[in-house]
This record gives sequence, structure tokens and C-alpha cells, in this order.
Amino acid sequence: MTHITKRFGETIALADVSLSVQAGEVHALIGENGAGKSTLMKILSGAQRADSGTITFAGQPFAPTSPLDSLRAGIAMIYQELNLAPHLTVEANLMLGREASACGFLTDEIFGGSWSRKCGQTLQRLGLHIPINRIVGKLGVADQQMIEIARALISGARLIIMDEPTSALAQHEVQRLFDIIRQLRNEGIAIVYISHFLEEIEAIADRITILRDGRTIASGPLHRWTRPKIIEAMVGRQVDEMYPRVDHTIGEPLLRVSGLCGRKLPKQVDLVLHRGEILGIAGLVGAGRTEMLRALFGLDPRKQGQATLNGVKISRFGPDVWNAMGVGLLSEDRKGEGLAQNLPCSSNITLSALKKQSIMGWLGRDGERTASIRLARRLNIKWADCGQPVSSLSGGNQQKVALARLLYADADVLLMDEPTRGIDVGAKVDIYRAMGELTQQGKAIVMVSSYLPELMGVCDRIAVMSRGVLSPPYPAEELTSEKIMQMAVGS
Ligand SMILES: Nc1ncnc2c1ncn2[C@@H]1O[C@H](COP(=O)(O)OP(=O)(O)OP(=O)(O)O)[C@@H](O)[C@H]1O
Ligand SMILES: [Mg+2]
Repeated sequence: MTHITKRFGETIALADVSLSVQAGEVHALIGENGAGKSTLMKILSGAQRADSGTITFAGQPFAPTSPLDSLRAGIAMIYQELNLAPHLTVEANLMLGREASACGFLTDEIFGGSWSRKCGQTLQRLGLHIPINRIVGKLGVADQQMIEIARALISGARLIIMDEPTSALAQHEVQRLFDIIRQLRNEGIAIVYISHFLEEIEAIADRITILRDGRTIASGPLHRWTRPKIIEAMVGRQVDEMYPRVDHTIGEPLLRVSGLCGRKLPKQVDLVLHRGEILGIAGLVGAGRTEMLRALFGLDPRKQGQATLNGVKISRFGPDVWNAMGVGLLSEDRKGEGLAQNLPCSSNITLSALKKQSIMGWLGRDGERTASIRLARRLNIKWADCGQPVSSLSGGNQQKVALARLLYADADVLLMDEPTRGIDVGAKVDIYRAMGELTQQGKAIVMVSSYLPELMGVCDRIAVMSRGVLSPPYPAEELTSEKIMQMAVGS
């Protein structure tokens, strides 16, 4: 890709970007939120058109006009939000890719029975033991992702783009993905890999390209780079302290939860959250951490369990009750229930705190804007205007809007489910600092995270969820990642 530019109205998403990816390499594309990574890859995969610039693929000029176009040429993109038909079988989903590439040959293959064989072979090639008649929606996220990769292979992809593929994967699933990526690379397939986890980049990439503000900052073999240099190139400044220490004192118990038990998960949760405390919740994906927050917040029904806030018993668990009492939730699912995608960013930020508006009198557009802009500055949100719809922001910036909403609500207790998912390294530091400042004001935070370094870096105490049961909390400095993993797998 050479001299690619792309504008969205006022926003210059890509300004003269060049990228060269070779067969048989894993090429990591990295950069801050809003740097232009997804946009560049959407252009390559035919989902968007560049304003100017040229693409050459396999020695030929290439100007895709649709994703189908790119797929036919051998380029497949795997999005973070997977693109499968959940009610269809594995086999049918694999066929969706095949239809794209060679409608003409399809019938022969199906009636000759070679189609099913081919599906089976492709799954085998990936080391997958999934029956092809299984309904895709019944598979876990990791297996679904594998089916997407299988679909790319079956349609003859020679370049596979993965945009933040590991955000919903457990640790061992990430390892399996990496094994498969290495295998594909050895077969001569090119992989473009987008991630905010530098540990992953270091583990898997052969070469990297760094984007900043829609420009290529650097490109070259990974081994020439150190982590501090990569971070500096990404964010344009040195980051000395990933986990800034904000002095805070832990006070009296604020929230007590006892015997919380959901329909299926969690099975047993007892916790005490103190004023001025950040309590981390570690655990494997699927252990019941999200379910714990949802049951507590009243988004899902619970079998039993009690809670007191400031010594006052909570008679009914429901978002309205909790919000009114000063407890806010940052949901893991920002697409589904987190944000109103078509509303302006500013309304999204101020929406859930209508109470505050009614107390002070209706905020009005101006008040909404001022408050939003203040929070955007604090969290370094990149938007052209706070009036633009949330859906037009980059993934990480959407997550920051969800966080800004929680901060705006000015809750005393903040329940956060994967608050830094999809957020770049520089902005993570801003968020950790903001969390520290909240505890300084005597607020308390429960932080669910699958990223152990951050749990150990920012939390005062950490409890581990294993198969629906929450352990007692341990002071963070007494734990190691090995110990947490042991507790998480229940040994
Ligand atoms: N449909 C759109 N309308 C308006 N602006 C857009 C649109 N899509 C992307 N942008 C803007 O283009 C810029 C680049 O966005 P892009 O999604 O490529 O970033 P990214 O590098 O993938 O970031 P992240 O790490 O947060 O996913 C951002 O400023 C974003 O707001
Ligand atoms: Mg993106």
C-alpha cells in the first residue's frame, strides 16, 4: 500500500501511509487509538475505499471495491466482532466464504461430496476437533474465531488480517491462536496483526509498522526495537511509569456483598470493598467474573445474595437502584448495552447521569458539551467533535467514551469490567491515573481484568474467581502471576 490517504469529513484518518507486507511474515500494525490501523486494513480488505494512493497485491495493481472483491483476490479480514452466522452449522459458515470465491464450482463440490471432506481437511489443518455439523452459535468465542480463520483458508486467502483478535480469548486460547498463526506463516501466508498488547507483538511479530495520527512513523524488523522505543514511537513521548502511584488511604467498608449466587454463575461471591480501594478480580475467561458484576448490578437474575452499601441494606438489585445510590457499572459489552452507537458522543457521556442534570436544572447542550470536552481531555479521547456519533470513533476511543460516562456519573463505587480493553498503552496510563485519583477522593473501584500486569500494577487487593467461586482478597504485593494463575485454574 503506498501513499494511502483517507478522510472522514474533518478527520484525516490516514495521511500518506505506506505499508509493505511480505508473504510468510507476521506483520504487526501498531499505534494509538485512532491512529488509523483499522481504517488502513478496511481499505485493504475492500470494506472502505481510499481517497488516494495505490495498492499492489501479488505483483498486480489492486483496487478492491468490496470485501468480496478482496476475498476473491486472497485477502481476508477477521474482525474482533466475529462475522459468522450463529444459527448455521460450521459447514454452512465455511461455505459462505467459498461462495464468495468460486460460485461456479460450488455445486460440483457439494454434490460430489468433496465439500464436506474439504471442510474436514481444513479444520484438521488447523488442528481443530469440531464436528462440521455443529451450530456455530454453540461454540465458544475462541472456536468461532478459528472457524473464521478456516473460512479464510478455504476461500484461498494468502493474506489474513486480524484486528485485535485476542481481546476475548483466555491465555491458553491465545497460545493456540499463536501456534496457528506460526503455522500459517510457515505455509507462506502473510498475517497482519493488530494489537495493543506489546507482549503479544513481541511474541509473534516478524516486522512491525507503527502509525501515529494517520502517518507511518516507522517500519522494520521487530528485533531492532525495544519496548520503550516502541511505546515512545507510538505515543510521541516517553512513558516512564506504566502504573503511576497515586497516594490513597483505604478507609472503612463501603460495599459488602455476601452469598451472591446467579442462575448458573457466579456460584459463591463474598466481598468487602473499602473506601479508597481498588479491588481487582482476576480469573479465566468464563470463570464468572462478568456474571458476578451483572448479577450484583441486577442485570441478570440471582438465586440469592445480599448487599449493603454504607451499612444500608439493598432491598432490590437493579441498575436504577444502584445508580441512585451512587454505584455505576462499566459493562464489558460496549456495543450491546454500553453505548448508544448513533447518538453523539456528548449525549452518551451525560445520558446515564440524568439525575445530576435534574438536580442542577437541565444541563442543556452547552453544559453537556463543556462536561464532555473536559472528560475527553482527561482521557485523551480522539474525536473531531463531541457531537459526532459514537459509531464513527475508533474502537479504543469508544471504550474511552464508555469510561467517560462512568466518570461523569460521579459514582462512589465503580464496577469496571475490562476497563482498558482495546485501549492503547499511553491512554492506559491516563486511565490508571484517573482511577488512582478517584480512590484519593474516597471512591472505591472493583476492576475485573484479564490482563494480569495491570491488575498487579494498579490494585490494592486482588481476589481470584475460579469456576464461579470468588477467593478472599490478597494484598497485591503478596501475589505473583503464577500464584494467580494457579488459583484461577483451581489447583
Ligand atoms: N466512519 C467514520 N466516520 C468518521 N470518522 C471515522 C470513521 N471511521 C474512522 N474514523 C476516524 O478515523 C480515525 C482512525 O480510526 P481507526 O478506527 O482507523 O483507528 P485505530 O487505529 O483502529 O484505533 P483503535 O486502536 O482505537 O481501534 C479516528 O479518528 C476515527 O474517529
Ligand atoms: Mg481499530
